[in-house]
Amino acid sequence: MASFSKIRKAVFPVAGLGTRFLPATKSVPKEMLTIVDRPVIQVAVDEAKAAGIEHFIFVTGRNKGVIEDHFDKQFELEETLRARGKFDALEKLRKDLPAAGQTSFTRQQEPLGLGHAVWCARELVGGEPFALVLPDMLMQADPGCLSQMITAYEKHGGNVVAVEEVPKEDVSSYGVVGCANKTGDTFEITQMVEKPAIEDAPSNLIISGRYILQPEIFDEIAKQNPGAGGEIQITDAMISLMNVQQFFGCQFSGTTYDCGSKIGFLAANVAYGLKSEELGEEFRLVLNEILNKK
Ligand code: UTP
Repeated sequence: MASFSKIRKAVFPVAGLGTRFLPATKSVPKEMLTIVDRPVIQVAVDEAKAAGIEHFIFVTGRNKGVIEDHFDKQFELEETLRARGKFDALEKLRKDLPAAGQTSFTRQQEPLGLGHAVWCARELVGGEPFALVLPDMLMQADPGCLSQMITAYEKHGGNVVAVEEVPKEDVSSYGVVGCANKTGDTFEITQMVEKPAIEDAPSNLIISGRYILQPEIFDEIAKQNPGAGGEIQITDAMISLMNVQQFFGCQFSGTTYDCGSKIGFLAANVAYGLKSEELGEEFRLVLNEILNKK
């Protein structure tokens, strides 16, 4: 098996405005909304940790300072919990705390699009391949989606994007990939189109929120002109990079919940609630009661 540089760093773009969740997101970042009892961003970090990521880079924006606080030690809270003998709660906090120096934060000063947010992390990533994780897209998978992608990357190298099937009539909302020969779960991508018309879509496989990218992507992003809505898109930069580097699609096994939309967020809470060791059984009963009410 060929050997490729280890993926050590993950970038989490969290500078979006979250307008679909107003008024909730007026003062609370949408990444801090909870899935059962964990903020969406924590669930994404958990997935990256499980995949062996050692450094977590957050591209934040105005009003997102609470995300930085979430990954810091809360000294007064911990002292109070200790004084009250709440050692289980303390242990929960300890387990999630990144080690000193394991996180970096930079700001995207204006929400100029996902591509631009990724570009803001260029100095922190440096010259090595990295993972890009969109925390909105919650993947319930075992092993995690990023772990499955790193396995594919260790075999093929290059760039890897997570893909999944959607009904053909939905392709126009996404980046869509095409391939010449798809025999397994990982395949070489020959075409990529952002939000195609249904008749122009090369397949019904969409790019779904996890990427492993080579550092040359930053130069490609820098060359992009703002597209729809004045935003700089990551897909356009990947299309340019495809001229000189290989891209692979990794059709992971698992379920995606788009927590950037209200319906996806509600569905994720139901799915994670039902799976919860602590609450699953009781939640199922409550849910059935609600569903059976006339
Ligand atoms: P979305 O397309 O969901 O946009 O971004 P949004 O602004 O967060 O939410 P809505 O559409 O207004 O409700 C996808 C991902 O890209 C990040 C978001 O934080 C999210 O993780 N993003 C988007 C940025 O970091 N900066 C941007 O300029 C745009």
